[in-house]
Amino acid sequence: MGRILVTGGAGFIGSNFVHYLVDHTDHHVTVLDKLTYAGNLASLSGLPESRMTFVHGDIADPELVDELVASVDAVVHYAAESHNDNSLHFPQPFVHTNVIGTFTLLEAVRKHRVRLHHVSTDEVYGDLALDDPARFTESTPYNPSSPYSSTKAGSDMLVRAWARSYGVEATISNCSNNYGPYQHVEKFIPRQITNVLWGIRPKLYGDGRNVRDWIHAEDHSSAVLLILEKGRVGETYLIGADGEKDNKTVVELILTMMGQDSDAYENVADRMGHDLRYAIDSTKLRNELGWRPRYGDFEEGLSATIDWYREHEDWWAPAKEVTEAFYAQLGQ
Ligand code: NAD
Ligand code: TYD
Repeated sequence: MGRILVTGGAGFIGSNFVHYLVDHTDHHVTVLDKLTYAGNLASLSGLPESRMTFVHGDIADPELVDELVASVDAVVHYAAESHNDNSLHFPQPFVHTNVIGTFTLLEAVRKHRVRLHHVSTDEVYGDLALDDPARFTESTPYNPSSPYSSTKAGSDMLVRAWARSYGVEATISNCSNNYGPYQHVEKFIPRQITNVLWGIRPKLYGDGRNVRDWIHAEDHSSAVLLILEKGRVGETYLIGADGEKDNKTVVELILTMMGQDSDAYENVADRMGHDLRYAIDSTKLRNELGWRPRYGDFEEGLSATIDWYREHEDWWAPAKEVTEAFYAQLGQ
């Protein structure tokens, strides 16, 4: 049995990963999370105390991070400020957590010689044209657009430098857009599902042509665990499930699946610098490590996600009003 520190384990993808670890391994998990607006302890409820310890704190706190890293065999680093729309209006926490926080963690894993897996995003590569046959690969040059993606790009660069210069045993993964249970209602898919549940019309930015490459959070978790166990140290792996869809199609699907007219949505103000298209080529992860997604079918995963939000209004309702008030100020 190993001891794994999961940063940001009370957030969307981190909590999915903690559940996945408890269900599929014998590892003991320590979660370090600051519980920002995006962190929710309820996402970890039901996990046995014998398997999971929760620590409330900041990844940019060097003493706390040093003490926690010294006591584990590996760190999986999810903690981040993660929402593009917030980053465009309040960039400071993105620099603090994504850059300074990752630096703090790197210094601790270097000192204690602890294995690190750094979780990142495909948004570090910028965007693709709609008609470009290319997809992102591990060798695509970095070209981030927003304070979110640029601070994640900065964190990836720090990890690469600490691996090369100091021999830190690190892997990096860059994943496409996730959906699934425990995702904050500020994000696209849960926002539209919970809008429909509350009788609010879904909101589509601009003309809705923008394409995202969707993957279920459980498939992201299985890939990260595989990279942690079998990935080659120093390598980067792209994670994606061939789930390209434009936003208009996703909104129409949600409306239809929830028994509404497919055109019962509103077009609202577009995002500044809105990336057009993301698309992942995950050949390396599939060929080298044999990874396959469980949710190959987006509609099956989306339907399960709609059911989850229907059944867990107690989890998402407390954040819904304040989120919608923020968007209303922006005309979104
Ligand atoms: P999230 O915003 O839902 O969760 C982030 C978590 O980190 C929260 O629990 C928050 O409290 C915690 N946190 C924030 N600042 C912290 C700090 N200074 N110290 C400790 N904890 C802190 O984010 P998410 O969507 O679950 O994303 C998790 C990771 O996955 C991020 O690194 C993100 O860049 C990456 N990622 C996300 C997606 C996606 O589609 N959401 C896709 C690819 C990669
Ligand atoms: P989001 O979930 O914020 O993820 P990201 O910015 O990391 O891709 O948004 C996904 C897509 O959906 C993006 O193109 C912006 C768009 N979007 C809307 O059209 N309406 C919304 O209400 C939101 C939150 C996003």
